[in-house]
Amino acid sequence: MSTPIFIRNASQLVTLQGSSNAPLVKGAMSELGIIENGSIWIENGVIQAVGKDSELVEKYKGRLNEADVVDACGKLVTPGLVDPHTHIVFAGSRENEFNMRLQGATYMEIMNSGGGIHATTRATKAATHEELFNESYERLNKFLLHGVTTVEAKSGYGMEWETELKQLEVAKELNEKHVIDLVPTFMGAHAIPKEFKECPDKFVDLLINEMIPKVAELGLAEFNDVFCEHGVFTPEQSKRILEAGKRYGLIPKIHADEIEPYEGAELAAKVGAISADHLLKASEKGMKAMAENGVVGVLLPGTAYFLMAESANGRKMIDLGVPVALSTDCNPGSSPTVSLPFIMSLGCLKMGMTPAEVITAATINAAHAINRGKEIGSLEVGKKADITIFNVPNYMKLQYSYGVNHTETVVKNGQVVVRGGHLFEELSLSNH
Ligand code: NIG
Ligand code: FE
Repeated sequence: MSTPIFIRNASQLVTLQGSSNAPLVKGAMSELGIIENGSIWIENGVIQAVGKDSELVEKYKGRLNEADVVDACGKLVTPGLVDPHTHIVFAGSRENEFNMRLQGATYMEIMNSGGGIHATTRATKAATHEELFNESYERLNKFLLHGVTTVEAKSGYGMEWETELKQLEVAKELNEKHVIDLVPTFMGAHAIPKEFKECPDKFVDLLINEMIPKVAELGLAEFNDVFCEHGVFTPEQSKRILEAGKRYGLIPKIHADEIEPYEGAELAAKVGAISADHLLKASEKGMKAMAENGVVGVLLPGTAYFLMAESANGRKMIDLGVPVALSTDCNPGSSPTVSLPFIMSLGCLKMGMTPAEVITAATINAAHAINRGKEIGSLEVGKKADITIFNVPNYMKLQYSYGVNHTETVVKNGQVVVRGGHLFEELSLSNH
């Protein structure tokens, strides 16, 4: 039996109650289920009660002295943030390409001349398992310090079996050893390796006939993702790859319409993807198809910001009924950040979303984008006790006061892991 935690008296407790079965759409994205002077009782890693402070004091009056009390007076309490799209397991860094882009080179030009994803692939190939683990572990600590408690993680910096396997094994070990939950995605279809440039279909065959079956057999991923983009994988190739994954129980995800319109959103609806991500250039037809099929639109305004491109039209997607989620896209090329709260501010300022909508997008809708809506993403009895306390008095101020890390306390699996904005010593890498 663990010591109960009693979080008390939040000025606003964002519960998002009633959202576990399906992602929120349209007006429901603004229904945060706020309780003023709200409190939560946590025991054994699970939320036991949520309500007004006075109600919980009455309910637990005989046990108050057993609990570790966390004072949230004047603060905002939300579900732990969920990041549904990252490439967190990588080695190296690409600030040289950042400098090149600032002088006019484009992201795709850099990639087509052997840099970009290929540069990170070389670095990831060269890194040992331990080096990759250590680098990624530090990134996870930074995520935690920004209030994030669950992170999706893609492979895709190998594009040959050995390195893809290494990335997925590192993700597995991180999930076991770091307090953050990692949800793994296979993304062997991240770029066409140089040796397959003249015969990309052969690489597609390799993915379908060898890598996907092995990943599934080893149970190393839940999702299968593909970069469907002009000059990378065509919609036909992407469809073959995603359908093959489905046969092995891997749920489709897709990097869609990021740089050019390519009917990626339409494809996501057609193959029954759980999410379509990026969508900067998605067509209205594609958005409508996503809405009809309940495909979550995972929007990454940090990537648009960093690539100096126009953001996806989040406002229009929400109005058309697409369930929208937000993510950092954390990766060394197009979005080297771990700050999901900054992405939430960009959601407001660059995509016309309201502060309430971005909270939903970074919690319960993000959880649904990685098939975790029943376990996390809202503060309800029986759900995992993943909770973030921000040092702001209300949810609007979180996005308004942008670029500042307001995270004060993080509870993960019912354990306090960040207090006063600092990580608990036991989580430092030297202890693992
Ligand atoms: O989501 N677009 C493709 N993949 C990543 C970028 C990866 C990289 O540049 O290293 C993305 O933006
Ligand atoms: Fe990505």
